[in-house]
Amino acid sequence: MKRVYVYKAFNRFWHWTQAALILFLALTGFEIHGSYTFFGFDNAVQYHNVAAYSLMILIVFAIFWHFTTGEWKQYIPTFDNVKTQLNYYVFGIFKNAQHPTKKTVLSKLNPLQKLTYFGLKILVIPVIVSSGLLYMLYRYPQRHGVEALNIESLEIAAVVHTLGAFLLLAFIIAHLYLITTGEKVTSNLKAMITGFEEMIHEEEKSAENLSSQKIE
Ligand code: HEM
Repeated sequence: MKRVYVYKAFNRFWHWTQAALILFLALTGFEIHGSYTFFGFDNAVQYHNVAAYSLMILIVFAIFWHFTTGEWKQYIPTFDNVKTQLNYYVFGIFKNAQHPTKKTVLSKLNPLQKLTYFGLKILVIPVIVSSGLLYMLYRYPQRHGVEALNIESLEIAAVVHTLGAFLLLAFIIAHLYLITTGEKVTSNLKAMITGFEEMIHEEEKSAENLSSQKIE
């Protein structure tokens, strides 16, 4: 086994900041929704707005990083081996089967992760951000509001936004379970904290060879 550097500094910064912001947005958002009282409604709205602006700034930097480093290619979805990967999670994992996908520096995601993260990037996150922005623009129309946004469109934005929030929550629950399914229970978590992943000799060799090639 050798430690291979898989997650670079910005990758880890982006991952953990995004995770913290999304959890905080869920905490404050569901208070606004009326699910519980914690910060108090007015504070929850204020905190939700600040976290939302922070997330949007982070997204701009993340888009820049994805395109300048070529990392976006990791997320191109594929249906190859999706069934094998699903079979592994549903059956193989409980029989101590081998992981069907080998992780390398240039291909760190399995087919199921590619599909899920692609869906998050091009559907769930854009939907929650744009419906949230519509919500913001409507809520304060006294000064800079958009005239075309009436009460009916606010309702649609609110429902879509809440739906997006539930989808993100479902993702987080599945994600928390799946991070425990690496070589050891804590392997994936450690890798996203330190950047280094333990790989067996063969994988380590291919990962190092690949890392020396430039991602185009
Ligand atoms: C950049 C992203 C986001 C923006 C711009 C945004 C914006 C907003 C705004 C303006 C509101 C209404 C606040 C008010 O009533 O004054 C709201 C509500 C809410 N937000 Fe967000 N938000 C974002 C991300 C999120 C995320 C990531 C989640 C959860 C994971 C979330 C969950 C909620 C929920 C559940 C509500 C209450 C909806 C309702 O009951 O009508 N938001 N958001």
